[in-house]
Order: sequence, then structure tokens, then C-alpha cells
Amino acid sequence: MTAFHDDPTPIVDVNNHSAADHAANQPQSQWPVGQEPWRPSAHFTPKRMWMNDPNGMIYHDGLYHLFYQFHPDSMIWGPMHWGHATSRDLLSWEHHDVALYPDEHGTMFSGCCVNDRHNSSGLFAGPGTSNLTAIFSYDNQSLGLATSVDGGLTWQHYRGNPIMPAVKEDFRDPKVFWHAPTQKWVMAISAHRECYFYTSPNLIDWTFASAFSGGCTVGVWEVPDLFQLTDPQGSTHWVLLMSVNDGALAGGSGIQYFIGNFDGVKFHWDASQGARWLDFGPDNYAGSTWFDEPDNDKLYIGWMSNWPYANKVPTDPWRGCLTLPRKLQLFDNGQGLEVGGFPKVWPTANGDTLQVLELSFSADDGLRQSHELLIKGQPTGHVLTVDFEEQTLVLDRPQALRSMFKDARMPLGPQRDLRFKLIFDNGVIELFDLQTGRCISQVSFGPKPSKPQPTP
Ligand code: FRU
Repeated sequence: MTAFHDDPTPIVDVNNHSAADHAANQPQSQWPVGQEPWRPSAHFTPKRMWMNDPNGMIYHDGLYHLFYQFHPDSMIWGPMHWGHATSRDLLSWEHHDVALYPDEHGTMFSGCCVNDRHNSSGLFAGPGTSNLTAIFSYDNQSLGLATSVDGGLTWQHYRGNPIMPAVKEDFRDPKVFWHAPTQKWVMAISAHRECYFYTSPNLIDWTFASAFSGGCTVGVWEVPDLFQLTDPQGSTHWVLLMSVNDGALAGGSGIQYFIGNFDGVKFHWDASQGARWLDFGPDNYAGSTWFDEPDNDKLYIGWMSNWPYANKVPTDPWRGCLTLPRKLQLFDNGQGLEVGGFPKVWPTANGDTLQVLELSFSADDGLRQSHELLIKGQPTGHVLTVDFEEQTLVLDRPQALRSMFKDARMPLGPQRDLRFKLIFDNGVIELFDLQTGRCISQVSFGPKPSKPQPTP
């Protein structure tokens, strides 16, 4: 590995095709971009084509960067690239050219970005505030690294890639952070039905530290994230998020999490807290948190889909949508600590396809109450039912595809007065329990309009 540090030109540009190469493959939609049926306005979607996991979120120079698993040639999953967008307000996004293209080692699977301010890798001119480094998986499950010195717009793939071989099947999706007490970079990476931890002084040479497994191991583990949150009493805990593809609470793929401690080498799960699910809806997967979030929040974003039907959702000419960026918090709802959270910035209703509803229910008005969602005075078909006796809330999905899970169930707190906030963004729903921090994320699209809208 040192050979690469010694190399005076350790960087190789392998961006072997450009956005223009994809132009011929763009689908001709009957609707102008932005005005298609089911296009959300506050939730991020690519302009066109397929998107899955959010990748490499980093805040840098006043911009929230979002990269994402992108197939620029098709509306179904295929050879992965990293798409790129930036935002200043977390509600509107500027689309950029593809950031990472496949190279001679493979296609670009999920990963993360860090800012290597001290130039620990030796790949930058020196210490600096714009030493952006992406650490990602190749499709063959080896790991690669790329650097950017222009704020994430263009990237150079490291000549020494791959920096780590595939050590086992389903070994992918590195998430890296700086662990100050041990003065090392730490990587959490999924490894079939485990999470492995590695440490490194320089982001290139990684040493195995430990392995963890627990909770739901029905499906393959993907996209880990490890970070700290403070509980309502002011104590700090480590949280390990792990996406599990199959066997999730709401069906198919979902995110479980573990609360415990991390000593720089090993994650010590506090099993008395249980293994819990981050979302009670079916559409929040492969999410992770920002590096260098400016307010010291744990800012999270997830992919609003579910692998059993992700390739079939009827949006056109794009497929894939992300949650609103959420500020994660620890809640104490009386049964141990729970990770929940709300959008860092709530959208405002646009009087048309985006509604933000404040819903409250009092047990005095009945122990079982239903509320039908109306948008512009018209029923959407979604019914939300609150049951004070069973302490559950059910949100059904009227236009579910056959492979979609029909409804979502969320446990309620014991309160006799319940308060929720529901965002309906043209078929994309996020429902938050304002008291417990629990949420349901669910995509649901109505019947396709038979006639296209006239193009202005
Ligand atoms: C999660 C995932 C990752 C992988 C990526 C491929 O949805 O399967 O494990 O890196 O998607 O697109």
C-alpha cells in the first residue's frame, strides 16, 4: 500500500463517460419535468431515471451535499453511479452531474464521504478545508476511494483502488467517521448478516477491529451507520443503524437499530434496550446520517422504497424518492430508549399537491377514530385509524401494488390526547407522532391519469 503513498501521481481520472453519453437514453415523458403525476415537491427525487440509497451526505461550505445510487440509463436498477445534488435549505435541491462513474474495478455501490482536513491520506496538496474523500463499495464488494478538491462536483478515483478486497459475501456500504478518543478513522461496514468495524490512520489502510450481530438476521444486512445521540437525561449513547433486506417490521426491507456503547474497537449492544425498528412504515430504507452536520444534529435521510416492489412503482420518468432530512433524537417512551425524529425543516403546504396536516385525537371523542385524508377537498383513499384501546395507529395504502404491503401499524403512547403531523407530498406520506417521535413513511400513488396534461 505504501507504494501508492510514494507515487507522485497517486490519482487517476477514470471518469470514462459523461452525462452527455446518457442523453440518448432519456425517456420521453408526456409531462414537463416537475409537473408529472406523483412528483413530490419537498421530497428529493432525481429528475429522471432510477435512484436508490442516499450516499455520502456531507455538509460543506454552506451546502448540504447528497449523493445517491443512480442508474442514469434506466428506470430500473442497473450499473450503479453516484448521482449528486445540493441544498441550502433541505427542501429544494439543485441537481448536478453524475459524481462517480463506474471504473475498471466495477460499478459504484453505496458509501460515504468525509472531509480529510489533516490530509491523513496524503492524497491532497496538504491540510485544508476542502479535502473531500468518498469511500464506497464496488459491485464486487471490494472498497474504493475517490477525492474531490472542488467541493464534490468532480472526483478522482484513487489509483490504488481497490483499497480493500471483498472479505466475505455481501461485504459492503462503508460508513466512516473520525473517532477522536482513539485518534482514528472508524469504518462500520455490513458483512452478510453482521456488521464489521475497521480502524485506519489514513482512510486507505484498514485494520479489522470487531464484528457485531444481533436482532433480526432474516435478511442480508446493508448500509450501517454508527453515531452518538444524547438521551433526554443528558447521557450519551451510541446508536448502530442497520438496514435489513427482508424480514423488516413493515414487510420486506427496513432499518433496525441497536443502542449501546462504542469504545473505538467494539460496539457493546445494551441488549436490554432490544433491537428496534427505525420506522413503522414500509418505505424508509438504506438511510444514513450527514458528516459534519452544521448544528451538531444527527441529520438523517432514507430511501423511500422497499426492494420487493422498488422496481415497479409507477412513477415516470423517474423511480425513487427520499425522506425529508430528519433530525434524529432519543426518546424515552417508558419502555427503554427509542430513536425517532422529525424533519429538520418542515415544508409548508403549497395549496396544491403538498399538504402539512396537524391531527389531534382525544379519547373523549371515541376509543376508535378514523380520519380520511382529503387533498383539495377530494378523498385520497388513505384512512388513518387511531385505536386508544389497542394503542395502535393504522395507515392504509389504498393503491398498493400486489407486492406492496397494504397498511402500516404504529404503536401509540398511553396518552388520552394524541398529536400527529402528516406530510402528504403528492402520494409520498410521512406521519410523525409528535409525542413519541415514532413515524410512518409510506409511498402511495393514485390511479394514473388517463390523459397527459397538456405541455405548456
Ligand atoms: C441497499 C443496497 C446496498 C448496495 C446498493 C446497491 O439498498 O443493496 O447494499 O450498496 O443498494 O445499489
